[in-house]
Amino acid sequence: MPKTRIPPLPYGHQSVDDQDVAAVESVLRDDWITQGPRIPAFEAAVAERVGVGHAVAVSSGTAALHSACLAAELKDGTKAIVPTLTFGATAAAVRLTGAEVQFADIDSETLGLSAQTVEPLVTQETKAVIPVDFAGQPCDWDDLSEITSKHGITSIADAAHALGATYMARNVGSLADMTCFSFHPVKAITSAEGGMVLTDAESLAGRLREVRNHGIVRDAANHSSPDKKSEDAGPWYYEIQDIGLNYRISDIHCALGLSQLNKLDIFTNKRSALADRYTAAFADSELIDTPNVKADRSSAWHLYVIRLKLKALSWSRRQVFEALRDRGLGVQVHYMPLHLHPYYRLRYGHERGDFPIAEAYYDAALTLPLFPAMTERDIDDVVEIVMDVLGAARR
Ligand SMILES: Cc1ncc(COP(=O)(O)O)c(C=O)c1O
Repeated sequence: MPKTRIPPLPYGHQSVDDQDVAAVESVLRDDWITQGPRIPAFEAAVAERVGVGHAVAVSSGTAALHSACLAAELKDGTKAIVPTLTFGATAAAVRLTGAEVQFADIDSETLGLSAQTVEPLVTQETKAVIPVDFAGQPCDWDDLSEITSKHGITSIADAAHALGATYMARNVGSLADMTCFSFHPVKAITSAEGGMVLTDAESLAGRLREVRNHGIVRDAANHSSPDKKSEDAGPWYYEIQDIGLNYRISDIHCALGLSQLNKLDIFTNKRSALADRYTAAFADSELIDTPNVKADRSSAWHLYVIRLKLKALSWSRRQVFEALRDRGLGVQVHYMPLHLHPYYRLRYGHERGDFPIAEAYYDAALTLPLFPAMTERDIDDVVEIVMDVLGAARR
């Protein structure tokens, strides 16, 4: 009987333990379930962990990206360079400011932006670049930073995949003007939903805090309306000087995030060991390319993406995908390049062929299950099923 995983193995899953449950329960018995002390505590812990001056926690990774784009003053008439290989949120955050997205192809090694892909696209309108540390591997950040400083552009790292990763012995979170994390359940640590923007710039942190809370400015020293001097400008007085939203995260979420942060190293090490086991098991396969991490950096191993050598197979990627799903593997595809989605095809006239490296990556990519609670046996099961299916698919 060929092996089938019952119940199916998902591609990602949170690891929540009794400490996490107790942390959440204790908030629920407190006065403050939102806008309370767990929020600055979570922010301070992540800022310290990453080695950055300021952290602003928000309700999701998407809210983090949108807030960062607003803080970078993206708006109508400006542009941000975004890799086409990313989740929709990276580009949506730009469009929701009114700015336009300038897609770029990826580097074939890091699968992220590089100086070579970015610099030719920079124009007077370029206000920001949003590199994505894809699957957890940091981009070539030194080269990218050289370009952004040279042209006076804000760098916003979409590090939704990369909390826990390092680049040249520096932590992801400290490499860009602003770095956005996501704490969705499949990510390095979870707060159920949640996100955070990290920055060393106090002015950006101030603006991010305003964006998170309706644009409200409470500090009297920063008030600017003539009404601030009126007899009736009492203690309730605040000003809205620029637009904001409710992107607040609750104390319940932050208590979970704080408790999870204690386990970040354990989770990252586990992911890394499991990824190594996959890579060793597939090393001799002529039907698969395994992911490669450059020697001067470490990956957070958010995703383990193999690429099928389709020329050696008589089956399509879709047939392989469906056969693996039938055998109980929750495989996924991350991601169809954004320029191929109808919204961006229509808006920018993009078509197949515009970004060949990302397209070739997408055509062959398959994400295998990887999360910290997996055992070596789970990995061995996945390997056995993948080898078995590819054996049948072989030309
Ligand atoms: C690259 C990337 N950016 C942004 C996000 C958005 O994060 P969230 O789901 O927390 O809004 C995700 C989520 O999957 C992502 O993968």
